[in-house]
Amino acid sequence: MSPSLGPIAWGKVILLGEHAVVYGHQAIAGAIHRGVQCQVTAQAPARLCIPAWNVDVKPEDDHPVARAFQALLSTAESGPLQIEAKTDLPAAAGLGSSAALCIAIARVLCPQLQGSGLEALAHSGEACFHEDPSGVDVALSARGGIGLYRKATGLEPISCLALPLVVGLSGVARSTADMVTGVGQRLRDDPSLESIMQAIAGQVSEGHKALLAGDLDTLGQLMNQNQLSLQALGVCNDTLAQMVHAAQAAGALGAKLTGAGGGGAMIALAPDRQEDVQQALAVLGYESFITTLGANT
Ligand code: PMV
Repeated sequence: MSPSLGPIAWGKVILLGEHAVVYGHQAIAGAIHRGVQCQVTAQAPARLCIPAWNVDVKPEDDHPVARAFQALLSTAESGPLQIEAKTDLPAAAGLGSSAALCIAIARVLCPQLQGSGLEALAHSGEACFHEDPSGVDVALSARGGIGLYRKATGLEPISCLALPLVVGLSGVARSTADMVTGVGQRLRDDPSLESIMQAIAGQVSEGHKALLAGDLDTLGQLMNQNQLSLQALGVCNDTLAQMVHAAQAAGALGAKLTGAGGGGAMIALAPDRQEDVQQALAVLGYESFITTLGANT
């Protein structure tokens, strides 16, 4: 990315704990070495151009990106800036692209803002994409690293080695809001599903210990268990299940969907078999990339 642009707002993957984090449980997530950078191209009229996503909107347009842009402009009380965003993150893939976009825009609208002020501004835009986001994407996008996140207490950095991951892209776009709403509905219809949330919380807690101990075998097993829990919660689909099985068969220590599910991305922990996993996904027609979890600002 060009050094003349603003700092990178990182994308993220959730290692363990998606969906349960919406209900107050902890999740482990980390920033990846992909993200969004913005630059102001003119002082007016207000316009947001994201060539990589074929997006070119004015704040009043009927488009989710336009609504987020409008929310950010009015919360920041800034002038009608024309902004260009550069990104190597796929949109709507569970990699935190909307939060990264909101952090990158917030940084050019209010360059003096940092920490919780910056995250609060970005949150006003992110809420236009997902009604009630847990906040994990925005926090990681701004701060980078790997952390334990809980809605009530925010992001607690985890001091551990950066984790090598293969990220597989299903190519199926989906809405996080729809997936979160679906889980809410299923929980209301069948309160016994609450036991799955408890199981996920246990996996996160054990995963935290495994990360601190550098025990990748255990972490991989926990990712596989988490995948089964997410399947039981109804957020996996045939495509993601096929990709996860392919990665496991190719020697991954662990593999699972990441983010809201229903499409988007999956991740595989395969420190010595990354190329094998990529090859297995490619044979099935899926793009993937290798990244290290824990990108830092
Ligand atoms: O798919 P993404 O990157 O939008 O991640 C969603 C993660 C959820 O836990 C399902 C929702 C949230 O707000 O944390």
